[in-house]
Amino acid sequence: MAKPIKTTLPPGMAVPVHIGVIMDGNGRWAKKRGMPRKVGHREGAKNFRAITRYAKALGVKYITFYAFSTENWKRPQDEVDAIMELFEKYLDEVRDFIEENIRVRFIGDRSMLSETLQKKMKSVEEDSLDFDSMTLVLAINYGGRDDICHSVKNIVQMAIDGKIKADDVTEDMIEQNLYTEEIPAADLIIRPSGEQRLSNFLIWQSAYAEFYYTNILWPDFRGKDLEDAIIAFNERNRRYGGV
Ligand code: FPP
Repeated sequence: MAKPIKTTLPPGMAVPVHIGVIMDGNGRWAKKRGMPRKVGHREGAKNFRAITRYAKALGVKYITFYAFSTENWKRPQDEVDAIMELFEKYLDEVRDFIEENIRVRFIGDRSMLSETLQKKMKSVEEDSLDFDSMTLVLAINYGGRDDICHSVKNIVQMAIDGKIKADDVTEDMIEQNLYTEEIPAADLIIRPSGEQRLSNFLIWQSAYAEFYYTNILWPDFRGKDLEDAIIAFNERNRRYGGV
């Protein structure tokens, strides 16, 4: 069991229910040290575990990590292989989260992943189904546009089956058919490493999210940086289109 975490968030801060994290900057982190990009991903993966634990200690209920996008297949094969190996390794280790009462879920199109990986994903999801201290969501082969496409396909099938008509389609229905069904919308999206874009992450789910950017590269992003993002979140005035 990992040692307890001492958080330092000032009292009275609202903790976002759902935080999304784009783990960017692994490649640059490695390059700065004259090492191959995959070393950056290895450090990034270690950090994903540390930040998951920190988020739980802060009382975050849902945290989604963008681990591999539908576009990431375009990377050199050895880099893709290295990332897939890390998934396998961490899917075994993620079982430790079970001891910590953390539910694990995956979003994205699994059909392109290896059978071993798909089996491990399924079994981790099943074994952690009843855990409720926090939900850890891993976006693997995930794309926001693909997510919406996936929802539309389900809905069209319901129409073909004669269960619904065009007028029955609502925002709720689209939402319920996304990979994130039953996961609340994102409140805060964090992107380290200096880029300021969403890159096809949770595009539907972050319609009213606050965005937090920092120049820190993902492997160097610490619990204190997560707290800084939450402090910035508390300074925003969320109006949801009102005044
Ligand atoms: C973006 O940094 C990072 C990725 C595309 C991969 C993220 C994957 C991991 C951290 C490894 C495994 C994760 C888990 C959950 C076990 P980049 O390579 O685009 O960095 P750069 O912009 O500096 O090149």
